[in-house]
Amino acid sequence: MAIEDKIKHLMKMREQARLGGGEKRIEAQHQKGKYTARERIEMLLDEGSFEEFDMFVSHRAHDFGLEKQQYLSDGVVTGYGTIDGRLIYVFSQDFTVFGGSLSEMFAEKICKVMEKAMKMGAPVIGINDSGGARIQEGVKSLAGYADIFQRNIMASGVIPQISAIFGPCAGGAVYSPALTDFTIMSKDTSYMFVTGPKVVKTVTGEVVSTEDLGGAQVHASKSGVTHFVAEDEKEGILLIRKLLSYLPQNNMEDPPLTVCDDPIDRLDDYLNTIVPENPNKPYDVKDVIHSIVDFNEFLEVQRSYAPNIVIGFAKFNGQSVGIVANQPNYLAGVLDINASRKAARFVRFCDAFNIPIVTLVDVPGFLPGTAQEYGGIIIHGAKLLFAFGEATVPKVTIILRKAYGGAYDVMSSKHLRGDINYAWPMAEIAVMGSKGAVEVLHAKELNGIESDEAKAEFMKEKEEEYKDKFANPYIAAKYGYIDDVIEPRNTRFRVIRALQMLSTKKDVNPPKKHSNIPL
Ligand code: HXC
Repeated sequence: MAIEDKIKHLMKMREQARLGGGEKRIEAQHQKGKYTARERIEMLLDEGSFEEFDMFVSHRAHDFGLEKQQYLSDGVVTGYGTIDGRLIYVFSQDFTVFGGSLSEMFAEKICKVMEKAMKMGAPVIGINDSGGARIQEGVKSLAGYADIFQRNIMASGVIPQISAIFGPCAGGAVYSPALTDFTIMSKDTSYMFVTGPKVVKTVTGEVVSTEDLGGAQVHASKSGVTHFVAEDEKEGILLIRKLLSYLPQNNMEDPPLTVCDDPIDRLDDYLNTIVPENPNKPYDVKDVIHSIVDFNEFLEVQRSYAPNIVIGFAKFNGQSVGIVANQPNYLAGVLDINASRKAARFVRFCDAFNIPIVTLVDVPGFLPGTAQEYGGIIIHGAKLLFAFGEATVPKVTIILRKAYGGAYDVMSSKHLRGDINYAWPMAEIAVMGSKGAVEVLHAKELNGIESDEAKAEFMKEKEEEYKDKFANPYIAAKYGYIDDVIEPRNTRFRVIRALQMLSTKKDVNPPKKHSNIPL
């Protein structure tokens, strides 16, 4: 064959591979409001940067007539490219080929990009749209999943791993996204569950729709499985690009520094009055976050899950940070099981990838009650305590108002190796709120008072006494647990100064195989 013919043949093969499962199935994909595997990669990566691997791979199965159905690429498009000029590895499942189902060769292709990503120290993005294990391949397909899981586990804490769910993701297939750092689901077109509605009905008798069982909203608000919900795939892809802008390429690098022309000493007078005088009145901690970070830009993670704690990424003078903040606007910012788990995982992610943590504290304590105790708040609260205590990245903490009881200790206190701990002048650092404290300390005297009026008068007087003594930041400051009491409007500047000073911080934990975080 002449070289021209050989090149023509190559082009024809490429053309065939690009068609995936064929025009009809591509059309069906578009009809569902979904993009194809290759269109998604084109949108995700910098223009013209994609280099594809294994375009000519096809399956090796011979059962169920599969030998007569061969599709180049075998249902997954893999390779590398760049996002904002930085190297990224990607795999994108192609629903037009056997419903994106995972075969032996499909899994090998994914494992290859994951291994390359680990060697090169670059993030992996997986776009999921699949009917699960390729039924005709049986145990080979299950083995393929496990091979991917093992690589997800090895890559955890080494390179960032991000999963987009843009279609079905069911059965054991859900565990690969679950092992990655962040999951993004598209509204109305994606779902995740271990067993689908039919199995649920057979086993439990429960009747539930696909959307109600494992749609994006369910995982965003009820299970916390997904970190982001996108209106559509385009928004999801923009979210991935945005998220990466805060992250380093791997655990040996620092996050990218960006040029910042938002003045570092920008004052915000509103912060001096944001905390209501009445300690039982709420305010929105996100107003504080937006006010102090560069360009008021905050990428919130798990927005709808456990909203009593707020987590997400922002920049201070161009430097990435993870923010953890109690939210007085929801359940008074109390720590409960879900909030503790949510924040603990985030703190560990930041620590694994050298991202400093800024913690804003306004917490009345842990949520009391049987539901919490039976649910294991002791273990789950300990996760957050453990995560903060274990973290060696720079930790800057500001107590805005309440820091009561165990929650004071947990929220990145000085005692958990907080590097810089500031408080606003209205901070109240105490074992508990004034009412509870007076009721305990003066129980006998209170029992001896008969009239309600006299009781109220007594309580008021003792509460004032208690507040004067304990409900302020100066006792903690006296012992050096608080490094300084700062003017709220100047918070941005003080945080930036602290982060600059901490930029050369080195801290290590004792050598060990791994820690035993209370799971
Ligand atoms: C082989 C599959 C397939 C699969 C779909 N297809 N799933 N082929 N193995 N698992 C094929 C279909 O035969 C069809 O082929 C094409 O993909 C599109 O599927 P449709 O059913 O026409 O599409 P749709 O109506 O959109 O429904 C999508 C679906 C459904 C909900 C995903 O296909 C489905 O329920 N599939 C089976 C899902 C499943 O039970 N998977 C196993 C889960 S257990 P044609 O030729 O007509 O285009 C599992 C274990 C993993 O994954 C364990 C890991 C540890």
